[in-house]
Amino acid sequence: MCGIFGYVSSKEEALGPILIAAAERLTYRGYDSVGAATMNNGKVDLRKDTGKVDAVAAKYNIAEMRGQRGITQLRWATFGEPSQVNSQPHLDSTGDMVGAHNGNVVNNVELRLEFIAEGMTVRSQNDGETCVHAVERYINRGYEFIDAIRLAYGDLQGDYAFVIGRANDDKLYAFKKGSGMVIGIGEGFTCLSSDLPSILPLTRNVIRPQDGEIVTLWADRVEVRSVKDGKQIIRMPETVTESMDAVQKGGYPHFMLKEIHEQAQVARELIHLLDGSPDVQPLVEKMKNARHLYLIGCGTSYHAASVGSVYIAQLAGRAAIPVLAPQFIAQYAPAVGYEDVGIFVSQSGETKDVLNALEAAEKRGMACFGLANVVGSTLTKATSFCLPLCCGYEISVPATKTFTNQVVTFLYLAYRMAGRNTRDLELIPELMNQTLEMVAPQIESIAKDINEWNDMYCLGYGATYAIALEGALKLKEITYAHCEGMLSTEFKHGPLSAVSKGFPIIFCAGSNDVPLIISGINEVKVRGARTIVIGEEDARLRANGDDLVVIPKSDAQISALLGVLPLQLLSYHMSVMRGFDPDFPRNLSKTLTVD
Ligand code: G6P
Repeated sequence: MCGIFGYVSSKEEALGPILIAAAERLTYRGYDSVGAATMNNGKVDLRKDTGKVDAVAAKYNIAEMRGQRGITQLRWATFGEPSQVNSQPHLDSTGDMVGAHNGNVVNNVELRLEFIAEGMTVRSQNDGETCVHAVERYINRGYEFIDAIRLAYGDLQGDYAFVIGRANDDKLYAFKKGSGMVIGIGEGFTCLSSDLPSILPLTRNVIRPQDGEIVTLWADRVEVRSVKDGKQIIRMPETVTESMDAVQKGGYPHFMLKEIHEQAQVARELIHLLDGSPDVQPLVEKMKNARHLYLIGCGTSYHAASVGSVYIAQLAGRAAIPVLAPQFIAQYAPAVGYEDVGIFVSQSGETKDVLNALEAAEKRGMACFGLANVVGSTLTKATSFCLPLCCGYEISVPATKTFTNQVVTFLYLAYRMAGRNTRDLELIPELMNQTLEMVAPQIESIAKDINEWNDMYCLGYGATYAIALEGALKLKEITYAHCEGMLSTEFKHGPLSAVSKGFPIIFCAGSNDVPLIISGINEVKVRGARTIVIGEEDARLRANGDDLVVIPKSDAQISALLGVLPLQLLSYHMSVMRGFDPDFPRNLSKTLTVD
């Protein structure tokens, strides 16, 4: 998740140290490249590259940069690989303007082509540069700077925040659409940032602009105007009282809980990105025409692949084989060839087991594509192309938002394979937020009730089967209890003998599978189990289960996805109740680069 920071001083001064310190405070968001630009008396000084803040700052001597205004940006690659030219900030064609953004401009590819056709100098693939040229376009057409910015806002689709300045000026300008942005007002300076942490050590006096508002920052004041009509909007500054740690966690006690609550927002950004991605249609064609289609991953990513395979079968009528990466090598690699397609799924893009499977597949000539959160990771470089998951940095070791965005990507691909309108998927973010609101208090009380148990099961069927596997994995990872995920119909073939009075069994009930789930519930209930059912409101489920955790009504595929949210919350609460840190469970690592 990129981060921007801008600073306006009343005089020319050493801005380098201020920009480096602000960049350091944004690093918790995750990044692969760093850049800084200062502006003063008609000159722009721009220094940037891939790498860590301290390394880039040392290599380009950012500390010595001076100016009256400065911008720094940390980039988390989505459009264009991590490289010096794709790093931000970016210049316009002549070097008169410099700007940087965070977020995604989803019509980036089309706009770049338009700007090239209009004769502008486009140097990178990055959508931050597109934002700068979007303003330049209207300057070239004779508009005043502020009006050019207003018109650019209308052309840039997606979720982002953007800051821009000119060499010969004393102000910075910023606007946001869908992404966060905060303005700070201090003694003799003003500043802006993607979020609070990089502002707090400078000032606690802030203004939070809304979407569709342009902010002009002078050293001693800020002005907020509406993009629509240019009219001024009065926004009074507020004083922030939270600690730095609380602010980094967005006010949540743990990153995991914050990331659970970010799922709707990142799903919305992902759907926008997929709508605008030129890579989707070629991938969909390859998937449709494959002799065999394999979805390959490990851990949570394998569970997403498994949910995806059900979606592809149910919606597009195509078989897709979900397989754990090492098993792919043992079982399928000897049989695959160039007519087959593999999609390698990984949050980190660095999991050794996945990279080994990729190597085995490539040796046999299989067409290999990726789905990863970390653009620039080995997987993104080693596959023909790799769709980004668009989640920003996931700090907590247990994957939450990267899992749901993997599942959303597969649902999107299944829709496209089936020729269905992906507009229907735009409901997902709101349904996710509703789910969290609906289930939160009940899940906390269930967590209390079953917390004494160190052995439990989580069962599902069809699309909810792998959701049950994922719920069980979350519970294992952060509560250290044994929780087994299983196909609900398999439970009677053995595990039934484990049931005793109060033994917790969670059922993920797909709306089309209620009668089958009810048989499962009764099989264990008569033997004393405590049955917790996650599903849509249904009188039959309510009458049979001990607890019904109700999720919003939707279709069978979206409903399966929503079912994982209460399971994430359940594992989170049980972990905290047990006195563990859910963000950093013992023995586990976020990126597993060993065999
Ligand atoms: C590790 C993590 C798991 C993760 C798995 C796959 O084992 O602890 O949470 O699901 O790797 O990671 P990937 O980055 O490939 O999705």
